[in-house]
Amino acid sequence: MRGSRLVPLLTFAVSAVALAVISLGFFQKAEAPRGLVVDETIASIGGPFELTTHQGERLTDQDLRGSPFAVFFGFTFCPEVCPTTLWEMTDALQSLGDDAANLKVLFITVDPERDTPEALERYLQSFDPRITGLTGTPEEIEAVSETYRVFSRKVPIDGGDYTMDHTATTYLMDSNGRFTSTISYEEQKQTRMEKLRLLAGR
Ligand code: NI
Repeated sequence: MRGSRLVPLLTFAVSAVALAVISLGFFQKAEAPRGLVVDETIASIGGPFELTTHQGERLTDQDLRGSPFAVFFGFTFCPEVCPTTLWEMTDALQSLGDDAANLKVLFITVDPERDTPEALERYLQSFDPRITGLTGTPEEIEAVSETYRVFSRKVPIDGGDYTMDHTATTYLMDSNGRFTSTISYEEQKQTRMEKLRLLAGR
């Protein structure tokens, strides 16, 4: 009787110690590099790309060195998010004036099938001429979307047509092409303007 009672107790004690050691190890592992993990995630937003502008020229991330830029992803058939963001960018560029002289704004399509350079050019006529539209092959668009951790997907609609779901975040990159911050959709005008003004000086 006694022996059989002792065994589970011992087992419990050993398990508890083992669990404590494992937990300690786990938490040490989880805690120590936490800062690094976050930094790596942030640092890994953005990176090399090669795309075609709405004027039919090739543009790479290297061409943008020396200029801070705001970049967001969308498509010209977008009913709301993209035109709103483009309008807000137009408004911001106009308010910032000379402060934004070095600032670039990029609009990268997630719908390269329909958004040819010509389609982008037509579409962007409604917005500030400093906004650059970018398209590419489906592979180039997929690559740049991965680089920026942007999600998009085709959603079929009535009549065999489709729309796109996509990330609505604007990414703010400094003049070395490094990620600095984001502007979320429906961010307050004041904070949006502060972030862009700050970015223009980076
Ligand atoms: Ni959109």
